[in-house]
Amino acid sequence: MENHILSIGGGNMGSAIIGGLLAKDYRRDRIAVVDPSAQVQSKISDDFGLNVQPSCREIRDGEIVLLAVKPQIMQPVVKELARLISTQRPLFVSIAAGITTTQLRRWLNADVPIVRVMPNTPSLVGHGAAAMFATASVRDDERRSAEAIMGAVGLAEWVEDEALLDVVTALSGSGPAYFFLFMEIMEDVAVELGLGRSIARKLTIATAHGAALLAQDSTFAPSELREQVTSPGGTTERALDILNSGNIRGLIREALKGAHCRSSELAIAADADS
Ligand SMILES: NC(=O)c1ccc[n+]([C@@H]2O[C@H](COP(=O)([O-])OP(=O)(O)OC[C@H]3O[C@@H](n4cnc5c(N)ncnc54)[C@H](OP(=O)(O)O)[C@@H]3O)[C@@H](O)[C@H]2O)c1
Repeated sequence: MENHILSIGGGNMGSAIIGGLLAKDYRRDRIAVVDPSAQVQSKISDDFGLNVQPSCREIRDGEIVLLAVKPQIMQPVVKELARLISTQRPLFVSIAAGITTTQLRRWLNADVPIVRVMPNTPSLVGHGAAAMFATASVRDDERRSAEAIMGAVGLAEWVEDEALLDVVTALSGSGPAYFFLFMEIMEDVAVELGLGRSIARKLTIATAHGAALLAQDSTFAPSELREQVTSPGGTTERALDILNSGNIRGLIREALKGAHCRSSELAIAADADS
């Protein structure tokens, strides 16, 4: 029997996950949504044929409560939900960036199982990359349920130490922006060199997409794939030599370390503040 899922928030991420679950044949009658926005209510009803309640009146035993509201309102929203838990044992799955399980447990005022997820924006098109951390009381069947939810919108992997979600934030959380920057620069330079904007953008996007698919399908590591397309004395070699002489590896290393450090700082500050 599929668990009943209650999504608190039906905005970008909530609706992407609901859409992903329905596309994977999750039973419609096993999904409920709470969202006060009239616009979201009619969108979810039109897109998925689901009724949306403006507020949460009940949390059932065994239910999976997906916390999909913005981090800045998570505290009041979760404190309100805490009043609906007495003897029930729901599983909370939070996708909010930077909200720790320590904060959630404190706001819920109960030792309920919690899965904290660090997703990324490509989840919105079903190609997300998420890592998940489970608190000690999460059972194996609940882990599988959380995996099925995030697996509906892309890759979902576990980390066994919550602090590693700061590494994940630096890698896949912020990662799409690094690739967007690379794509932005490639497109702009191609235009500078005479190509039209539209064709430059299409070729850039198709190249990024194709490179990612090739890396995914191949048995070779990205470094080997790079070597395979780099002929001695050729154009790729010239470009890579210039990138290396500008210390691209050092720059990317510093960028990810900076993002990692910032993510840890924000988590520590949040645990101290709330
Ligand atoms: N977007 C992404 O790609 C992305 C990536 C990584 C992580 N996340 C995380 O995902 C979470 C959701 O982000 P999002 O982009 O989906 O936000 P969003 O589009 O703003 O959706 C949140 C929804 O929650 C609704 N809401 C407000 N108060 C509520 C309440 N008391 N009960 C139920 N719903 C309520 C909001 O309604 P109103 O608009 O009327 O307030 C809104 O429709 C965030 O915590 C974010 O950190 C998002």
